[in-house]
Amino acid sequence: MPTNSIDSLLHENRRFPPAAEFSAQSTAKPSIYDDAKADRIGFWADQARELLHWHKPFTETLDWSNAPFARWFADGELNVAYNCLDRHVLAGNGDRVAIHWEGEPGDSRSITYAELTAEVKRAANVLKGLGIRQGDRVAVYMPVIPEAVVAMLAIARLGAVHSVVFGGFSSESLRSRIDDADAKLVITADGGWRKGKVFPLKTAVDGALENGTSTVEHVLVVKRGENDVEWIEGRDLWWHDELAKADAEHEAEGFEAENPLFILYTSGTTGKPKGILHTSGGYLTQVASTHRNVFDLHPETDVYWCTADVGWITGHSYVVYGPLANGATQVLYEGTPDTPHPGRWWELIQKYRVSIFYTAPTAIRSFMKLGRSIPDTFDLSSIRLLGSVGEPINPEAWIWYRDVIGAGATPIVDTWWQTETGGIMISALPGITTLKPGSAQVPIPGIKIDILGEDGTRVDPPQGGLLVVSEPWPAMLRGIWGDPERFRETYWTRFSSGNTWKYFAGDGAHVDSDGDIVLLGRVDDVMNVSGHRLSTQEIESALVSHPIVAEAAVVGAADEATGQAVVAFVILRSDQESAQTVEEASTLLRAHVSQQIGAIARPRQVFVVAELPKTRSGKIMRRLLQDVAEGRELGDTTTLTDTTVMQIITGQVK
Ligand code: WTA
Repeated sequence: MPTNSIDSLLHENRRFPPAAEFSAQSTAKPSIYDDAKADRIGFWADQARELLHWHKPFTETLDWSNAPFARWFADGELNVAYNCLDRHVLAGNGDRVAIHWEGEPGDSRSITYAELTAEVKRAANVLKGLGIRQGDRVAVYMPVIPEAVVAMLAIARLGAVHSVVFGGFSSESLRSRIDDADAKLVITADGGWRKGKVFPLKTAVDGALENGTSTVEHVLVVKRGENDVEWIEGRDLWWHDELAKADAEHEAEGFEAENPLFILYTSGTTGKPKGILHTSGGYLTQVASTHRNVFDLHPETDVYWCTADVGWITGHSYVVYGPLANGATQVLYEGTPDTPHPGRWWELIQKYRVSIFYTAPTAIRSFMKLGRSIPDTFDLSSIRLLGSVGEPINPEAWIWYRDVIGAGATPIVDTWWQTETGGIMISALPGITTLKPGSAQVPIPGIKIDILGEDGTRVDPPQGGLLVVSEPWPAMLRGIWGDPERFRETYWTRFSSGNTWKYFAGDGAHVDSDGDIVLLGRVDDVMNVSGHRLSTQEIESALVSHPIVAEAAVVGAADEATGQAVVAFVILRSDQESAQTVEEASTLLRAHVSQQIGAIARPRQVFVVAELPKTRSGKIMRRLLQDVAEGRELGDTTTLTDTTVMQIITGQVK
């Protein structure tokens, strides 16, 4: 069961009904709930027809006969890139800015829908020339620059499948993702800007392809960092050279709605990341629909900004596909919030008159720590809606966000969803819902959520339980790349029976007496660090891959700034104990994890211990280690083989 305390999440009692002016102009009207309730499947069919262009209309909405493998709109055909580009130009909106891009060093470009369409057409021709066809996998390892968006859309335009790997992941992580998906091509950059420095992406790609066994034929390199890169003739190609040579015309072909759109790797409970597979029609329907209704998007007047990196699901759904399908104007920013000064984000909101802003609680908390004097020096009056995603937002941060960034008046939507769900699943609708800080509140129209006890029966409010999605939804994952068994096992075995399929999300939740859902964090071995998912086992594997480590256990410990932080406990090999001081070993191992997985996984602390707490069946009791890491009184230790172990560890950690 979840460990977060319900009481600590709900000490804020104020409620915030929508302002009358907001409701009057909002895209979603209260009837949306009734419509979806009256005919859930029909509701999604209407959304698909209203919001998307179909090359060939669908006649069947959902085929669930092969559950848990869903097919939505299966006999329909569409082109995802056409939906995000050409049709806006054809509708007369070619001059509308699609992307106001800002580089970290201060360079900027504003790109219209007509320009973006033209660039994607050229890029699609380049990829086609390199042999990329429908179904082929292309890895994208890029900074947040417009070319990352162009690359994703060009791949989608050809009916090929992208696998975007976050630029902060190591060469090792990139290699395993390229290999798992058998990528044919890698699109990268010579570097990207982060905290005032260029990080060398191309070098990492070279490292990932070093053993020469991969299926990659070419590496397409965008010039961004202007740093020296090694070059393999024949394999490596400059993006700008190839685009300049490419044909400007490219006609978008329709692909079936279930054509795979992308694979995105995410951490699970076991060591190896899972390749979450998403397809085209259902995914695009739900991200377009939620982007429009949850963010109350008015594409003619709004300027939207989601701060996520394109390497995460939030970047896929709410930077690339949702906003572009809806013809939105958005801000895209390459760098970190505090470079070159801690007011950089607020400066960008002021500069582009951002009206809808979507970010993560961890960022909000770090700004809170710096104080309101920084945002107060900027003009944030353009903001009319705020959003939050990635982890529970504590009421204190919620109130600060509303007061300081939202001038004490702006609605906040706290959106719960996952890489697997593809799009937002639980959120208020800002013109309809009375907002309650600390709660993601209600399923969006057309989504069915339940909170179950361990025995699978619905819990009575206000008890806590496990969150499940009880009916299939359009943007649901269609599987784990290459591993259908793991797909069933991970999500569908726990609460399904007979013909009733329930998706187990891995989150604990609680329903309060108003029927609002409060998320309580993960119930499995997945950690959430600054809104990023990390697996305890993956980090343990990285630690034991180091020659000085005999055994390792990793826990996510509560952290004021990052939500959770990685804390590791290691036993050194006996021949290594004297060779390393505890500090040396700890420093070495933190760097090792960073090199193996990426800096986001670097443990906050590595404790060298003599033993780990184990049950009689040999299972490590992470719960007790978490108590130590969080400086708490130890929980029940009676199932340990040796109860003195915990006293020793506590002593060592102190
Ligand atoms: C957590 C990110 C509480 C949750 C979109 C989920 C949240 C995991 C919220 C998915 C929220 C995300 N409130 N918890 N509003 N949003 N989570 O796949 O534990 O990176 O299971 O997707 O983040 O993380 P992922």
